[in-house]
Amino acid sequence: MTVLSSPAAQPTPDHTATPTFAVIPGAQVRQALDGREQQVVDLVEATYRLHGAGDSVNPPSYFLRFPDRPSSRIIALPASIGGLNRVDGMKWISSFPANVSSGLPRASAVLILNDHETGYPFACLESSIISATRTAASAALAADRLSRGRSRPRRVGFFGTGLIARYIHTFLAGTGWTFDTIGLHDLSADSTAGFRGYLEQADVTGEVTVHDSAEALIRSSDLVVFATVAGKPHVTEPAWFAHHPLVLHVSLRDLAPEVLLASANVVDDVEHCLKADTSPHLTEQLTGGRDFLDGTLDDVMTGRVTLPDDRTVIFSPFGLGVLDLAVGKYVYDEVARSGHLHLIDHFFHDLRRYG
Ligand SMILES: NC(=O)c1ccc[n+]([C@@H]2O[C@H](COP(=O)([O-])OP(=O)(O)OC[C@H]3O[C@@H](n4cnc5c(N)ncnc54)[C@H](O)[C@@H]3O)[C@@H](O)[C@H]2O)c1
Repeated sequence: MTVLSSPAAQPTPDHTATPTFAVIPGAQVRQALDGREQQVVDLVEATYRLHGAGDSVNPPSYFLRFPDRPSSRIIALPASIGGLNRVDGMKWISSFPANVSSGLPRASAVLILNDHETGYPFACLESSIISATRTAASAALAADRLSRGRSRPRRVGFFGTGLIARYIHTFLAGTGWTFDTIGLHDLSADSTAGFRGYLEQADVTGEVTVHDSAEALIRSSDLVVFATVAGKPHVTEPAWFAHHPLVLHVSLRDLAPEVLLASANVVDDVEHCLKADTSPHLTEQLTGGRDFLDGTLDDVMTGRVTLPDDRTVIFSPFGLGVLDLAVGKYVYDEVARSGHLHLIDHFFHDLRRYG
């Protein structure tokens, strides 16, 4: 297979020409996104607004699970977005938690972008970076929007200190957040040591404390970020949240329904989030209804929902395929503009109907 560098490639594929197919490796993805935290947060906000306005198609994610490897899964997230950068496509993302013990990240992914006019796939992007980036950008956006109307958190606590926690910290710092204290809690001492090393390298200000107990981390944090790989709720005590922190429940399955029922609850998309045994899904099953939900992040951003300042606020984002598409298309356009798009020669062959 020949890989061509095409300086002439345009950001938007030409529908009248032979369809092209580009492969964008992780190094190019990283280069396109590096240092662009605020731009990506703005893009994620615009995408949530498009989705909230109905200018998207985002069917349920499909979970491929394995009887012989119950802790692993591969998820398909097909989606379509409208707006100026309209594009269709799908993220295909594996989660193999056991990878971490052998030094490989848990998640690996590709993203396929399909042309709006022809349906032809026109790019395949390394997507673990895109996925972590859109997740962290969504968390940073929520931290900002959901803390308006209450005092801005000065004490952050990371519950689970893996790759996603690192990206979330990078996005918080890259969008102007500073903290007096940074608390860390993880079942693995290697993970907290690794995260501490990252913070030192990033020359972060604020006192860093590793908490042995979950309760101590939560009670000493005004902004709590859950990024574990827990499959079932393990934080069950509403009293630990008596100081009413803002909680970014990115890993979705850490909190018992009792904790959600004592809090205001915001999700990214109601139908998506109330599935797959997430804490909101368990809460719906326990109560038989959705009254415990206050609304979506888009509802808060557009002013349809106002959050109380005297209750814990929990944001549970299921993670929408439209965000991967928006960030992936941004990366594609940046790489194309730079003139370094790697096109696969003759990827689509046999293009004449009768040969
Ligand atoms: N909602 C979204 O859009 C979205 C997107 C991407 C990832 N995620 C989720 O983020 C989570 C973290 O992903 P990652 O790539 O950082 O994983 P990772 O394996 O790199 O890190 C997870 C960390 O959590 C720790 N941990 C596990 N159970 C724990 C517990 N009960 N208490 C404390 N620590 C615990 C592990 O020791 C590990 O250090 C995953 O659950 C993933 O599914 C959510």
